Amino acid sequence: MKTAVIIDCDPGVDDAIALLLAFGSRLPLLGITTVAGNVPLALTYSNARKICALAGRLDIPVLAGCPRPLLKPLATAEDIHGASGLQGADLPEPATPIWVQHSVDFLIEQLLKATRPITIAALGPLTNLAVALIKCPQIAQKIEQLVIMGGSMGQGNITPSAEFNMYVDPHAAQVVFTADIPIVLITLDTTHQVLTTPERLAAIRAIDNSVSRAAAGMLSFYGQSDLARYGLPGGPLHDPCVIAYLLAPELFTTRTVKVMIETAAEHTTGRTVVDWYGSSEGSSIQVVETVDAEGIYRLLSEAFSAFEDFE
Ligand code: RIB
Ligand code: CA
Repeated sequence: MKTAVIIDCDPGVDDAIALLLAFGSRLPLLGITTVAGNVPLALTYSNARKICALAGRLDIPVLAGCPRPLLKPLATAEDIHGASGLQGADLPEPATPIWVQHSVDFLIEQLLKATRPITIAALGPLTNLAVALIKCPQIAQKIEQLVIMGGSMGQGNITPSAEFNMYVDPHAAQVVFTADIPIVLITLDTTHQVLTTPERLAAIRAIDNSVSRAAAGMLSFYGQSDLARYGLPGGPLHDPCVIAYLLAPELFTTRTVKVMIETAAEHTTGRTVVDWYGSSEGSSIQVVETVDAEGIYRLLSEAFSAFEDFE
């Protein structure tokens, strides 16, 4: 991975696993911007700092961003991630430095001053990026690629039509998808093939260091609600798929499609309306079509094994 990366996220258990994958794989990170989503902003911000401390990465700037969507009231997902947002791991209050810059201003500053375009990994509602694009549209030209976890071509996970990140802030998604940025979209159709089965959880637990123990604890809780809901043999590992794509794009195949975001309908708000044959209007993006789930778990095991236990 040559270009520098900014991760925008709403930790959230799967965001936390994505961050640990990024740290363990030495992804060149400029910073982590946080947004309200799975849990309110105060918790997503604190949780991102806790994960940085767990990974020994006190050097990484962690910024707090937008506490609510552009227009809609905030919807959260404590049923999936627990009240803390990191249920299953008992992490100490973070001792990481406090960065006072707002996530939106950090995104704008880093993109404007970058001598080479930057890659952005979007793991939560797109509010921060949308506000940055509204405030400073020229940053769009400085984004090498934007890899987003979100949307669905089949069933939603927060409504029958909509995936959570797009549902929480469909207006922000509309702003981002119409900003002429190279987008790779990883939808539920993909992430539901990357399940935290008992065998995979056992393999993570067997690594037996502080990071893998925390990851296994979080994933054990996280999978329960999806297991009960979908009857799947494990929870879908959404956000780590974005980091895996940056690390090993060969684990995925993509297709050029057109996409529109539903923002106004009663039953389908937040729907990513994907034209598989690319003939309609809408933004031309890459959507992931296939994924090598075993390959993703190999990356996770390698990343978790790279951590040493801190005294
Ligand atoms: O729908 C799944 C997505 O919404 C994931 O990014 C999860 O962390 C939540 O943000
Ligand atoms: Ca997320």
